[in-house]
Amino acid sequence: MEKYPGKKNIAVFISGRGSNLKSLIKHSKKKNSLIKIILVISNNPDAEGLKYASKSKIKNYGIKFTKNSNFENSSLKLLKKYNIDILCLAGFMKILSGNFIKKFSKPILNIHPSLLPKYKGLNTHERAIKNKDRFAGSSIHKVTEKLDSGKVILQKKVKILKSDNVRSLEKKVLKIEHEIYPKAINKFLTNL
Ligand code: GAR
Repeated sequence: MEKYPGKKNIAVFISGRGSNLKSLIKHSKKKNSLIKIILVISNNPDAEGLKYASKSKIKNYGIKFTKNSNFENSSLKLLKKYNIDILCLAGFMKILSGNFIKKFSKPILNIHPSLLPKYKGLNTHERAIKNKDRFAGSSIHKVTEKLDSGKVILQKKVKILKSDNVRSLEKKVLKIEHEIYPKAINKFLTNL
């Protein structure tokens, strides 16, 4: 049985600050939201985002990433226990194995700070500035076994100004991320 009828049960995986988690929680509290966030898991027990989850009275767990399989097995048990429909990665800096993706068997979405397929992996803003790109941005995509390569659901651009550095660009991109992750989840759910 669904825990909150009519709304999808969402789990969010984070690794640190959790500002995207915060924006998703805010969105989920809106009357017309299609989601309910009921579980937050971090591979880093000291992640700031876990504190915000506690404050928001959302069940949360810090599971140390000593061995990939330990983290994945413990997480899979929790995802099942809480009857999770969709897993959203928000600043989760570990790579989930194909085995995990198969075993979970429900959709997994990720937010990545670049205009995919450009700049998969790390240091996206640094690379965009170095290449003198005119635009940077963020993408929400489905997670598959291949890193940052699943179907893009939504992306948004920001202009890179001559005066921009990695910090200022990160700030600009983060701002649009808070806007587009909730939108992308809505889009994904209404096209299911
Ligand atoms: C976000 O910019 C997100 O796109 C990025 O980490 C940041 C997390 O910020 N994710 C990745 O780089 C994943 N490869 P947050 O913890 O404040 O949400």
